[in-house]
Order: sequence, then C-alpha cells, then structure tokens
Amino acid sequence: MEAQAVNRYALGLQPQNSTNLSSLPPAEPIMHAFSSLLLLGTFVFQAVLGRPDGTRVRREGEILKRSVDSFVATESPIALAKLLCNIGASGCAASGAASGAVVASPSKSDPDYWYTWTRDSALVFKAIVDTFTNSYDANLQSEIQNYIAAQAKLQGVSNPSGSLSDGAGLGEPKFNVDLTEFTGAWGRPQRDGPALRAIALISYANWLISNGYTSTASSIVWPVIKNDLAYVAQYWNQTGFDLWEEVQGSSFFTVAAQHRSLVEGSTLAKTLGSTCSACDSIAPQVLCFLQRFWSSSSGYVIANLGTSGRSGKDANTILGSIHNFDPSAGCDASTFQPCSDRALANHKVVTDSFRSIYSINSGIAQGVAVAVGRYPEDTYYNGNPWYLNTLAAAEQLYDALYVWKQQGSITVTSTSLAFFQDLVSSVTAGTYASSSSTYTSIYNAAQTYADGYMAVVQKYTPSTGALAEQFDKSSGTPLSAVDLTWSYASFITAAQRRNSVVPPSWLASGANSVPGTCSATSIVGSYSTATSTSFPTSQTPKGGVTSGTATATGTASTTTATSCATATTVAVTFNELKSTTYGQTVKIVGNIAALGNWDTASAVTLGATQYTSSNPLWSATISLPAGQAIQYKYIVVNTDGSVTWEADPNHSYTVPATCATTAAISDTWQ
Ligand SMILES: *[C@@H]1O[C@H](CO)[C@@H](O)[C@H](O)[C@H]1NC(C)=O
Ligand SMILES: *[C@@H]1O[C@H](CO)[C@@H](O)[C@H](O)[C@H]1NC(C)=O
Repeated sequence: MEAQAVNRYALGLQPQNSTNLSSLPPAEPIMHAFSSLLLLGTFVFQAVLGRPDGTRVRREGEILKRSVDSFVATESPIALAKLLCNIGASGCAASGAASGAVVASPSKSDPDYWYTWTRDSALVFKAIVDTFTNSYDANLQSEIQNYIAAQAKLQGVSNPSGSLSDGAGLGEPKFNVDLTEFTGAWGRPQRDGPALRAIALISYANWLISNGYTSTASSIVWPVIKNDLAYVAQYWNQTGFDLWEEVQGSSFFTVAAQHRSLVEGSTLAKTLGSTCSACDSIAPQVLCFLQRFWSSSSGYVIANLGTSGRSGKDANTILGSIHNFDPSAGCDASTFQPCSDRALANHKVVTDSFRSIYSINSGIAQGVAVAVGRYPEDTYYNGNPWYLNTLAAAEQLYDALYVWKQQGSITVTSTSLAFFQDLVSSVTAGTYASSSSTYTSIYNAAQTYADGYMAVVQKYTPSTGALAEQFDKSSGTPLSAVDLTWSYASFITAAQRRNSVVPPSWLASGANSVPGTCSATSIVGSYSTATSTSFPTSQTPKGGVTSGTATATGTASTTTATSCATATTVAVTFNELKSTTYGQTVKIVGNIAALGNWDTASAVTLGATQYTSSNPLWSATISLPAGQAIQYKYIVVNTDGSVTWEADPNHSYTVPATCATTAAISDTWQ
C-alpha cells in the first residue's frame, strides 16, 4: 500500500501532509519552485499539495504540467535550431558536410560521430517533414530537398556492404559526411536504414501530392523511394545489425519499420498511378514475422531474435512503437500501436528495467518516471540513460493519451493490467468510457506519468538546452557525443505529441491483418540510380504561403501574401476531431458575424459525413474575408439543447491573404 501511494507522486517524492490547497502560484515561480523541489525535496509539496486524496494528485500533476510547459516552450526553439546546425552544407555545426548530409553529432573524438547515418538522418528528416507539413516553412523545405538529393546520391555510392546493382549497398549504415563510403570495420549491414528513409521520403511525397505537385513526387522522390522499397522486399528476411549497431539478428525496430515502409509504399505507388507488387505481397509476411517478437509468456516485446545473452528488454521496442504510431489505428496490437496492451505492458517492463541499475533513479517507484537507457545489460560508456530513450518513453504515453481521447475510452486488458495498476492501483481489466471516473483517473495519471519523463530530461538538460547522447547514471551529467541530432529530433516529436500534434496516418488499420502462417518469401528487386534531383522552385502550399518559421511544437505560424492576385474571400474548411454520441452536434462559434459573434444560437453547424469512430471528423467550410484575424471555439450541442464548450484558450487564426481561395484548419477537441 505504501508503495502504491508513492507511485502517484512525480519523480518519486514522498508527499507530506499539509492543508493549504487554496492557490497555485503563477507559472514562472512554479517552474523555479519545481526545479528546486527536484533538488531540495518536499517543501513545495508541503506548501501546495498535501491533501491525501485525488485533489492532491491533480494539483501535483498541474504543477508538473506547468513546469514541463515552460521547459517545452524554452527547449523547442533550441532543439530545432541545434538540429538544423548539424545538417550540411550550411548548418552552423556542420561545416565541411555535404549539402543535405545530417551529421550524427559534431563530436569528432571520444566518440567520433562525425559521420552521416542513414537511420539517424531518416528519423531526423521524418520529424522535419512532419513539422513542415504541419506548418509550411521555406527553409525546412530546402533542407528536405537537399536531404532527398543527398540520399539519391548516397544510394549509388558503393561501399563495404555492396553496391546498388543488387541493392546490397543500401544496407550500409553510415557514410563520411562528404557522402563518400566509410571503409572501416563496422556492424553492417543495418537493414532499418532503407525502410526509415522510404518512410521519411514518402511523407514528403504525400505533402507534394496533396499540394498539387504530383509530378515532382513521381519524377524526383519516387525513384529514391522505389530503390529502398525494393531493398526491403528483397532483404527483410535476412539478419542484420540492430539500431544500436551491436548485435546481429532480427530486430523489432527494424522489422516494424520495414512493415510500415511497404504498406505506405504500396499506397504511394497507387496514388502515383504505379504499383509496388512486391510491397503488396511482402508486407503481410513482414507483419507476420513482427508478431514473433511479442512474448506472451514474458509479457514484453523481445527486442532482438536470433541473438543471445540479453533479456531482450530494450528501448528499441519503445522506439519501434512510437515510430509506427498511426493516430487512426486505435490501440491495434498487431502493429504494436503505442496504446496497445502489448506496447503498454512493454513500456512498463522496459522502463522498470532501469529503475534499480541507475543511481539517479534510485527510490523512484513504479509508475513514476525515470531516466531510460538502451537496455539493462548496456556497457557503452558504462551504460547510462539516453535522452532519446527517456523522451521516447514520454512520447509513447502522449500517443496513447491522444488516441484514448479520440476514441473516448481506455481499455485495460490482462496484458496491460500491471502497467495501469502502477497508475491507478485499484483498476481492473475492462473498458472505461470517458464519462467514467476511472477513465479520468487513468488519463490524468498517465499524463502526469508522461510529463514526468519530460521532467527527467528537463532536470538533466543544461541551461544551454544542449542535448548530448547520454547522461551519467550517477551524476546526471551529459555524456558521450554532444549535440546528438537524434536527441533533438526526439525532443521535437515528444513535444509535438504532448501538444496533440500527431503525424499523418500510414493506413495501419488497413494493413494489420496477420496471415495465418508466416512464410519466408522475398522478391528480388531491380535498382537504378535516381538521377533527377533538382527540385522546381516555388512549391508552396496550395492554401497559401506562411511567412513565419515553423515552430518545433507544431503550432501554425501566421500567413502572409505571396506575389499573386490576392483573394478577397477564402473558403476556410474547419476540420475538428471530436468523438460524439448519437444526437450530439458539433458547431463552431467565434468573434465575427460569420461565426455567430460568440452567440451559440448563431453558431455554424459542422457536418459529420466523414465521421468514423477511428477518425471522428466534423467539418464545415465557411467563406471568410482574406486577412481576417479570428478567434473561435468548437461547441457540442446536446439533444436537449445544452452546450459543452471546448476548454480555453480560444483558437486563433488569420485567414490567409494570398492567391489561394481555399484554406483548411485541422483542430482536435480541447
Ligand atoms: C524469415 O521469415 C520466417 C517466417 O516468418 C521466420 O521464421 C524467420 O525467422 C525469418 N528470418 C529472418 C532472419 O528474418
Ligand atoms: C475567448 O474569447 C471570449 C470572447 O472574446 C473572451 O470572453 C474569453 O475571455 C476568451 N478566452 C480566453 C481564454 O482568452
């Protein structure tokens, strides 16, 4: 019982009894209070919290939330700026690197990370493309174009893994930063690289298509993607080195990425009027094999098969889950969605494995965030927590929170029960609707748990905001490579998910049926160098250009005019994701006449023709004056006429004043 009570308290602090709950100090003092609290103990809890009931738990979650809000606000622009510093040719820390080459870290010795890895680069660019898609930024677009051109070139560089002629060279893990082959001994091949690169490029191809640039997607991006898909379909069933470059076998992270790449590749091919028949026939087999990593007897995902000497508990599996997150796929277990019972059970086992082995985690109870490393047997730099793994533990939970909110319920199964009991000790297996108090307790506890992981990163991030690769398991001091590009990308994606900014669906729910028997088939591909790599200029969004720079947390920047005839009115489509019950109607109301001047009786009704339970989309197109700044909120009108308002703040938007006559906004009920 004692332990259960402590579990609820962020960062393992034992609450003290106290009485005064009356007022929360404003955000700024709280941040300071919270950081000193981390160091000094229970003073603030004593003063502000202390009532031994749900109120205290909520208060403590609120304090944590505000502190993490401040950290995210401060760190987001730093992370994006420092990430871009590591990309050639003009990145401030990447002098000497080729255009579009992502340097893993500027560290040239102890350790020497002055190389470009296919995996790291692809994960970094997936985060950049998603940020760009969410909020147009011309600078990010040229980075993306340079990256694609660099990858087209790298595909053709013969290397110790082989060449492009039979695809084998695509499995080479890293290259020199001038895009020449690295000839030293290394753990090669690593078969996640081509899959991850395909996924990153597909996301940009999808943006091009939806903005009217299909021919660019076909002529420049698709030829690069096609080689990578051919590689996956041909080599998926052969062993390779894992993402930590240490063990040869089959890696969950790799196989999960391979499955996703084939599924998305198939859809893209069709959209471009082509086909990827190898994608279609191999994807189900990769999914079939992926199931083998789940050990129902152990209750977690075994990170690597065909290897020995380790428990198999490894953040590899958390990373595999978050990088295959599909916000429309619900809590599907076969694709190990972040809120699936398998992935949550695994989250507990993996994070628990670091509780007793790092002294900075000492005394922190289960269900309270800790510093997360790669795997418990790790000896690299003596084995320490990594920023990117601690952030991944947060991100998985934010993904889960997003989906629970969308679907309006949380399901606890016997598989995930232990995970949930760390958060709410009395919970039992079942499905809890969002109207239930159990749902609210779990939801709030999971949010606090997720924020706790961000707070761990906050605690061990120096005031400069620099994120190295690791931090010391005893002192918390940053360790190993400085300014690891992947650490910054991980911060950005975790911060976005926390802000309910999620990546587009990869149609996982249409590709999650597992064949009854698995077969070891593969298809020999054909490969050719992608030669067309010069992008047309001015590929701006269909809905108008934004002038601001993208923000790492995913908030849209303001829109301004381009050099063309400016539209006078714009048909703005408001898309709102809100799960409703039969009889409820979603409306929009705001500060101008077209939006009812805040009068709910004059609110504009949204339509639900595209509504599904996994994608509860309400939508309305309203003609608004170009350049008009608006504030608005969505409301739900119940059958009895009563109105439920969205929570603060009001949404703000400026109707674009560009040549475009249409624009779209995507919101999620807040
Ligand atoms: C190849 O696929 C078969 C069928 O799923 C599986 O049993 C085998 O372990 C796989 N081998 C590798 C190296 O992927
Ligand atoms: C939203 O707008 C309304 C109407 O202008 C205003 O009364 C309210 O204070 C605003 N809410 C916030 C949180 O600013």
